[in-house]
Amino acid sequence: MRQSIEREMLEVLELFYYATSFQGRRFLCCFGPGAMVSEMLLDLRLLNRARLEVCLLAPGLDPAHLPPGYPVVPVGNPRELEQALKKGLMPLLPSAAGGLMEHAFALAKTFKVSRILWLGQEPGLLCGGKLQSFLDLGELKALVEGEESMNFDREFLGALWRELEHSKQEWVFVEAKSGALFQEVFTHQGCGTLVARSYQKSITQAQVSDLLDVMLLMRPYAKSGVILPVGEEQLAQEIGNYWVYRLGGSIVVTARTRVLGDWVELGKFCSLPRYQGKGRARELVAKIAEEMAAQGAKFLFALTVEPKMGTFFERMGFEQVDRETLPKAWAQGYDFSRPSVAYRLTLQSK
Ligand SMILES: CC(C)(COP(=O)(O)OP(=O)(O)OC[C@H]1O[C@@H](n2cnc3c(N)ncnc32)[C@H](O)[C@@H]1OP(=O)(O)O)[C@@H](O)C(=O)NCCC(=O)NCCS
Repeated sequence: MRQSIEREMLEVLELFYYATSFQGRRFLCCFGPGAMVSEMLLDLRLLNRARLEVCLLAPGLDPAHLPPGYPVVPVGNPRELEQALKKGLMPLLPSAAGGLMEHAFALAKTFKVSRILWLGQEPGLLCGGKLQSFLDLGELKALVEGEESMNFDREFLGALWRELEHSKQEWVFVEAKSGALFQEVFTHQGCGTLVARSYQKSITQAQVSDLLDVMLLMRPYAKSGVILPVGEEQLAQEIGNYWVYRLGGSIVVTARTRVLGDWVELGKFCSLPRYQGKGRARELVAKIAEEMAAQGAKFLFALTVEPKMGTFFERMGFEQVDRETLPKAWAQGYDFSRPSVAYRLTLQSK
């Protein structure tokens, strides 16, 4: 059965949004040992059709063995690469003997690539069995120097850290599995492990220009029912009530405040999966609490149906309270059949 046209449009919007946000940035898809180009053909074709600048480093690949009409062309220098990209082709960069990773970085510098996607047999960098979605260089270094078990050789990761230290490139470990590149480039989920320099961070109120980012960030959580959905019109009206945590220009966590007398409701709390678990939501709540206290509010409160969120609020000094004790103006519009639990933080003005 066909899903609603609105949902289809939102999905297309998300694809366009991510595809265009990468325009002007050049990717190098580097096929590591055991990774098969044949497995990734559909993904590569999608990147190419989206007019993203993608080049390949695939030792042993003979373009003549690709399916007919497949747009891969070998290039030997930056001028040939530019010409190939202008024609909508996918340049295949020259292989060399020696370390593939070091060669990928050398090519990335020569051919002005900003992100190297390392396609391999692993789902990403696993540390103690847990997938690391995003690491900055300091975190990578700490892992290399630490003791925890990992699915990549420490020597390889140490060499990667040294390369990244001395270059402008970013690195992503992606599994060479059909759909993985699509997920990495076109969806807010990301895929595998992104390793990049520390991004600059800021926490501010959202602007009208943030509307699409906030909407796309909330969308999967509204779809799965963890937060109540917000229409685009409503979001446009209250965008100034949203707070955003930005990392290197991208919004990675958001939450909405609603002032009800000297109480403030905190809601629509969500973050990009890749950036979770590093205390950013906690920082956002701390900043909101500080700002609201400075504006004279006495209590911050939130409701959740997620037990994990309850733990999160309690760790931040919230206490569980009866929903009946919350402001009347809030209770009027609330569906009390929802099995939510209320938490309240008493604000201290400085
Ligand atoms: C809730 C959420 C915004 C936290 O973002 P974050 O940047 O990972 O948060 P922090 O790193 O500051 O804190 C992590 C804590 O969040 C809590 N948490 C709440 N929901 C969680 C989830 N779905 N997954 C992981 N942790 C969650 C845990 O207490 C966790 O602590 P732990 O790592 O010690 O287990 C994020 O997990 C998310 O977007 N979840 C889905 C949407 C949602 O459930 N929203 C809340 C509606 S009330």
